[in-house]
Amino acid sequence: MFQVKTKFPDNFLWGGATAANQFEGGSGVDGKGLSVSDVYTFDENIPKEHWSDQWLKMTHKQVEEAHNSSYKKFYPKRHGVDFYHHFKEDIALFAEMGFKSFRMSLAWTRIFPNGNELEPNEEGLAFYDQVFDELNKYGIEPVVSLSHYELPLYLVTKYGGWVNRELINFFVRFAATVFERYKGKVKYWISFNEINSCKHHPFVSLGLIEEGYLDLEQAKFQGAHHQFVASALATKALKEIDPEAKMGCMISYTLFVPYSCSPDDFQKSMERQRDALFFGDVQVRGYYPAYTARILAEKNVILKVEPEDEQILRDYPVDYVSFSYYMSSAVSANPEELEGAEGNLLVGGIKNPYLPSSEWGWQIDPKGLRSALNQLYDRYQKPLFVAENGIGAIDTLREGDIIDDDYRISYLREHIKQMKEAISDGVDVFGYTSWGCIDMISASTNQISKRYGYIYVDQDDMGRGTKRRIKKKSFYWYKDVIATNGEKLD
Ligand code: BG6
Repeated sequence: MFQVKTKFPDNFLWGGATAANQFEGGSGVDGKGLSVSDVYTFDENIPKEHWSDQWLKMTHKQVEEAHNSSYKKFYPKRHGVDFYHHFKEDIALFAEMGFKSFRMSLAWTRIFPNGNELEPNEEGLAFYDQVFDELNKYGIEPVVSLSHYELPLYLVTKYGGWVNRELINFFVRFAATVFERYKGKVKYWISFNEINSCKHHPFVSLGLIEEGYLDLEQAKFQGAHHQFVASALATKALKEIDPEAKMGCMISYTLFVPYSCSPDDFQKSMERQRDALFFGDVQVRGYYPAYTARILAEKNVILKVEPEDEQILRDYPVDYVSFSYYMSSAVSANPEELEGAEGNLLVGGIKNPYLPSSEWGWQIDPKGLRSALNQLYDRYQKPLFVAENGIGAIDTLREGDIIDDDYRISYLREHIKQMKEAISDGVDVFGYTSWGCIDMISASTNQISKRYGYIYVDQDDMGRGTKRRIKKKSFYWYKDVIATNGEKLD
């Protein structure tokens, strides 16, 4: 009865993850509209430490400029690495690595260019038909996010983003359209990528331009509530259209640890962890957790909840829990006393002296993945899916198409080992899609030279290059990992 599992389950979904806004390109092609991600510029003359500023906060002026074609700036996410025209070649490479699954997102703006149309764009739908057929040809299971930082820009400029309840209807129409269309082709869906990221970068997650909001917290919580209801209603539609299919939530999970053993630091780390867990609590359990009242009160937020919302959330929780895990971060109740210990800006927290960091200051903590898996499974008792994990690094292409990315192999190997440990702990995890299996545009910094892939793309931060795909050393390593179902890691 009590048997420790020492292997990855058969049919474990090994694979890689991407998102349309960073990967696909094909902007404006075949009727595609602009999304929130198409507004981000890249300028190599701006100091590196400011590259993620726009991601954290967008201004009205920047959004306006993005609509003005005479304004000459480079918008990397409009181009991605042109999966739109390379999908057959790319999927063939994934198949060569032995991928069992491929995580991708649908560009909402390819199917509903402005987001509020009554009828979908057939050319957009047809594109994804081709992608799914190609994946199916190789027996690769698609895991598809409906929304990965791809809110149609029109829904921001005309409706003010997710703070407006009308967006629920637009999202559900989009969801039902693709469920009907891809029924039988897609089994695993994810409603909102990193739904908790609205706390850190509300423009790309909620379409919220902070200027003009006197009460930003109010807007963030209201936007998140609308996404919760939209996700639950999309799940309802999925169950009606394709009862075999599964809906997952997706949480950005940084593991927060107390900087010291002081009770204050411990309390602070618990609060920070809850910032992420709050979202899972609603989407998995189907109701707001008991601690919500206090959080809202302390932030002076009065959430507008319609009478039917509570029942909708209860009736349609998610089937599985997916999450991204890149790093852990230390938390102190008195960070100002710890000079020079500032951690990663994107997640807050402070530097953990026990851990190394990536070139972008993300602290590498493989054991943190084991803890994350245990925490999430203990809390939710639902199957888990590691939807993202990886290291962004500068790769050097040497003569003869050689890229020795041992640092990447080492990062992934150690994380996979810890995932195996979690399986021995009894955690039910059914898949792992490492982030950016092929190089693409970084979400936070809009550059390509922060590379995650097993496959190198010959392109620089200003979009120059041949876009040729080149296999890195990690390509062959991951192929062996998959072929041996995670047994051969060294
Ligand atoms: C996650 C996102 O936050 O991290 C991805 O879901 C993103 O879209 C990934 O690309 C890595 O972050 P970055 O900023 O290094 O691209």
